[in-house]
Amino acid sequence: MAINKKQHAQWSSSFGFVLAAVGSAVGLGNIWKFPYMVGESGGSAFVIAYLFCIALIGFPILVAEWFIGRRGQKNPINTFMDVAESEGRSRSWGIVGASGILGGFLILSFYSVIGGWALNYITKTGSGAFVGQDSDAVGATFDAMLASAGTLTIWHTVFMIITALIVGVGVTKGIEAASKILMPLLGIILFVIVGYNVVSGGFGEAFSYLFAPDLSKLNSQIVLAALGHAFFTLSIGMGIMVAYGSYLGQEVNLLKTARLVIILDTVIALAAGLAIFPIIFSNGLDPASGPGLIFVSLPIAFGKMTGGTIIGAMFFLLITFAAVTSSISLLEPSVELLEERTSLNRTMATVVAAVVVWLLGIAALLSFNLWSDVLIMGNNIFDALDKLTSKFLLPITGLAGIIFFAWRMNQDAIRAELNLSGTAWQVWQVVSKFIAPIAVLVVFVTTLIGMG
Ligand code: PHE
Repeated sequence: MAINKKQHAQWSSSFGFVLAAVGSAVGLGNIWKFPYMVGESGGSAFVIAYLFCIALIGFPILVAEWFIGRRGQKNPINTFMDVAESEGRSRSWGIVGASGILGGFLILSFYSVIGGWALNYITKTGSGAFVGQDSDAVGATFDAMLASAGTLTIWHTVFMIITALIVGVGVTKGIEAASKILMPLLGIILFVIVGYNVVSGGFGEAFSYLFAPDLSKLNSQIVLAALGHAFFTLSIGMGIMVAYGSYLGQEVNLLKTARLVIILDTVIALAAGLAIFPIIFSNGLDPASGPGLIFVSLPIAFGKMTGGTIIGAMFFLLITFAAVTSSISLLEPSVELLEERTSLNRTMATVVAAVVVWLLGIAALLSFNLWSDVLIMGNNIFDALDKLTSKFLLPITGLAGIIFFAWRMNQDAIRAELNLSGTAWQVWQVVSKFIAPIAVLVVFVTTLIGMG
């Protein structure tokens, strides 16, 4: 009996953890961002680079972040400081946690804008606005939304309020419980759309666009974009997984859990690709049309398929939900930090963090209309925030994290805790000490040289 009880407790705690980690990982990155990045980079070259980055860089960094979090048991800054100190290293490693929190904070500003688009599209699709519409009409609806600073502000505000309420009131647990039902539903709807595409055309073309190896298009910009996206989609390089690691029991097998989270995250992203590109090709749309890609493609299919109004509204509702499970994980570390480091209570800390993020988000959404000429090094504010985080902050933070883990922590203890021996341990050592950090460095340096 006692044994049974213990096994059950172990299972349910690691299951809850997997849910929270998947909730953070699966979000707009998989369904909104991945397809349009594939489209901007010309297809399979990006997909292949991305899969390599996930396996060789994302995987070890995810494990390292959980490992460090489980050791430190605090917010990311104090975790890095304490773990560094206990390993006889400088407490200034805490800066890794700080740059992670900054990255998450900046990401949330533009993430909330897109969450707002998804919210707006629940009502648009649900009211039948797209029934029988051709691609021009669907595109015009999207452009009209982008042109209206007022509309974007309203929905961005609603999304931020939802996020702040959940974090402020601390009902994250309820959200996790709901995600047990809603995340699988999202997966099912995605596959329904993929199934629809199989019968209605464009599928073969989309499939080879995504998967037929065409390395001629590969260049360092694409690899850097793929690397940045690997960080973004797994929520690594942001201190989030470090924070989640602090809730982890010793019994949880980090390697297996990381494998599961990565597989689920990748399957959802690839399914999103197969849901979107057939519609793009069969309607003669441009795959490289950028952040609006899912909003100008999927509604065409929802407008045509039987039950499309309901399926479409459900789809946007579910991706909003997936976005919320990610956005709460983006806001939480900043709130936690304000709470611990200032005299603000949780409510005030949430309000302060949310208002600052909200203001930044306004600047980001104005880049689609009133401020479209405001450029920072050639990028509008939205793109600048996206690139600064995905291409710089996250990879640098992740790199520092894996260097700390593989070169500054006691490796015997790691081997024992990961329960690795023989060849498996050697492979792990090569990957975590050399392949992952060197790959990140090489991508950086080649891109910098390429830029110069
Ligand atoms: N991983 C989330 C997604 O793919 C986004 C996110 C990034 C969430 C960073 C938390 C932290 O949508």
